[in-house]
Amino acid sequence: MTPQNAPSTHDAEEDVRNRDILIYVNGDLLHRDEAKVSVYDSGFMLGDGMWEGMRLYDGVWAFFDEHMDRFFDSCRAVSLDVGTDRAGIMEALTRTAEANGMVTDVHCRLMLTRGVKVKPFQHPKLSQSGPTMVIIMEHSKPADVLQSKGIRLATVPQVRGLPMSQDAKYNSHSKLNCVIACLQAEQAGADEGLMLDPHGFVNTTNACNFFIVRRGEVWTSTGDYCMNGVTRQKVIDICRDNGIPVHEKNFSLYEAYGADEAFLTGTFGAQTPVAEIDGKQIGSGDRPVMRRIRRLYKDLIEQEIARQKGR
Ligand SMILES: Cc1ncc(COP(=O)(O)O)c(C=O)c1O
Repeated sequence: MTPQNAPSTHDAEEDVRNRDILIYVNGDLLHRDEAKVSVYDSGFMLGDGMWEGMRLYDGVWAFFDEHMDRFFDSCRAVSLDVGTDRAGIMEALTRTAEANGMVTDVHCRLMLTRGVKVKPFQHPKLSQSGPTMVIIMEHSKPADVLQSKGIRLATVPQVRGLPMSQDAKYNSHSKLNCVIACLQAEQAGADEGLMLDPHGFVNTTNACNFFIVRRGEVWTSTGDYCMNGVTRQKVIDICRDNGIPVHEKNFSLYEAYGADEAFLTGTFGAQTPVAEIDGKQIGSGDRPVMRRIRRLYKDLIEQEIARQKGR
């Protein structure tokens, strides 16, 4: 498989409707070919912005509150004034979805940057005209091949750093750490990079959180160096609520290679199986625990739809 047609965890079925979607740019809804931000925008110039990936199921933004908790915490931590509240964000999402006639199987990237700078330099005070908010929504169904074939991971030299450099919990526009990891994985012939923490324990992939299953137990990293994924937390909660032993703990590649199952979590793909790590096949390819968690996650989404519609 060449790098061009190798799968990635964000592969979606081709949908021609996405050629003419409308993008939200600071309150305007513009055809994707016309939707633009300034070359002076702090997001373009420095990666100085925060984003959230969310999914629309049956007219409901799944786990909206949890996404907003993370988004507002991230913005507050870097003194980025969102300029609106959660209701304002919901209104912008609703307008964009309605303008595009989107109801379900929709993925959204909500982005907020510090806005246009008066000079092409780093200091945040140079952004003087308020934040830039962009919402890209696409019709999006994860490609079936992700579930049938699984993802191939390669352990990469690029690590997740300590929180006092750039805390992985910032869902920031500057994803260079992850992009480098992804490139390293691709150049090693894999689809996505498996990243270690500064102590050498298995942490996360460049775009998703990482889980293994060993002897019926579900393990994931302590959470210290990875994105505080909404789906990660939902999987942990599902395990706890359904009597599936789950541990947030340090573990090494030794234990990952010998796992019965491994899978990734993220808003886009929910749970995506891992077929191999560093050329070693993981388990037998039968994934009863992940399949059960996937069913329970679908039930949780149904409950979320009912809860939000009953509001
Ligand atoms: C590096 C990284 N890890 C994991 C995730 C998954 O997080 P979530 O489950 O909230 O989509 C994301 C998504 O933004 C991410 O960027």
